[in-house]
Amino acid sequence: MPGLVDTHIHAPQYYFAGSKVDLPLLEWLTEYTFPTELNFQSIDFAEEVYTKVVRRTLKNGTTTACYFGTIHTDSSLLLAEITDKFGQRAFVGKVCMDMNDTVPEYKETTEESIKETERFVSEMLQKNYPRVKPIVTPRFSLSCTEQLMSELGNIAKTHDLHIQSHISENRDETEAVKTLYPSYKNYTDVYDKNNLLTNKTVMAHGCYLSAEELDVFRERGASIAHCPTSNLTLRSGLLNVLDVLKHEVKVGLGTDVAGGYSCSMFNAIRSAMMVSNVLSINEKSLTLKEVFRLATLGGSQALGLDREIGNFEVGKEFDALLINPKASDSPIDLFHGDFVGDISETIIQKFLYLGDDRNIEEVYVGGKQVVPFSSSV
Ligand code: GUN
Ligand code: FE
Repeated sequence: MPGLVDTHIHAPQYYFAGSKVDLPLLEWLTEYTFPTELNFQSIDFAEEVYTKVVRRTLKNGTTTACYFGTIHTDSSLLLAEITDKFGQRAFVGKVCMDMNDTVPEYKETTEESIKETERFVSEMLQKNYPRVKPIVTPRFSLSCTEQLMSELGNIAKTHDLHIQSHISENRDETEAVKTLYPSYKNYTDVYDKNNLLTNKTVMAHGCYLSAEELDVFRERGASIAHCPTSNLTLRSGLLNVLDVLKHEVKVGLGTDVAGGYSCSMFNAIRSAMMVSNVLSINEKSLTLKEVFRLATLGGSQALGLDREIGNFEVGKEFDALLINPKASDSPIDLFHGDFVGDISETIIQKFLYLGDDRNIEEVYVGGKQVVPFSSSV
């Protein structure tokens, strides 16, 4: 099958993935997330966590990941180096934030944030990794001044770069943005007026976007990273993907580790199904096929990579997983009637709902085998 595209994951937060999910977003950021991310000023700390998150996501079939790092430029550069070494396709962002009242030691000055983003981008472009690219990463409107946001937009424009951030994830956050930026029409307008909403922008969540905001997303060609596990884990909200698709906005799936407790895209697929089911009791819901499309081709469209990856069309790069539904120690039990020849729709469904990395025997990125890991990494 085609490789999985995780359109939104915080590499440093893998340190506490699977724990510390008992608070809503803004408290969760202050209590757990900012203090954890502070540790990434240490390159040694970063090296251990970043190596583990790249290995784990690759083993679970993520051939492309769109990563947030931290505000620390050197450890974010290290994340890119590790991703390249393991052969994962990725966008890597140095996080920018020049506002933070709750954990003031976790922020930069506006000038620092701009200067360090320029240094990050310039070093990344110099490295010229074949499949790992920089992405401009303002954390979200609550942690960035207008000056910082618009300067970051200019940097993205100058170098024709991708942009990632968060939008309308949780009610308190969305209300706080209204209070902080009263002169804007809405949350989308804050990014739009500050040069951040382009056809290379991917915004995570979007649970509370209005129809009018979704229209602006479509006009700009910006996309949404749907992060259903995180939205449920932090009790943030429920994104109606069918409604977003009706507005012709591009959508991919994201794990949003560690708001999402699992870095596996199979978990994201299952959560996307359950959220769609909850939203559509007695009505039309997303099908498993459609969610599988979101996890592969949809993700590639959301990241502007659909000419290179996303399916097995002739001419694209070979990002692929070799699945063995009968692997030893497999979590799936198959019965005689499941088989129509070697494979069947039933087996594919069982794999998507019940399978895990034990069923992923080989992973390829750009035609190169990256799992099992080579002895040189
Ligand atoms: N909004 C701003 N920062 C974050 C983050 O780290 N995780 C999530 N889920 N939302 C955010
Ligand atoms: Fe996030």
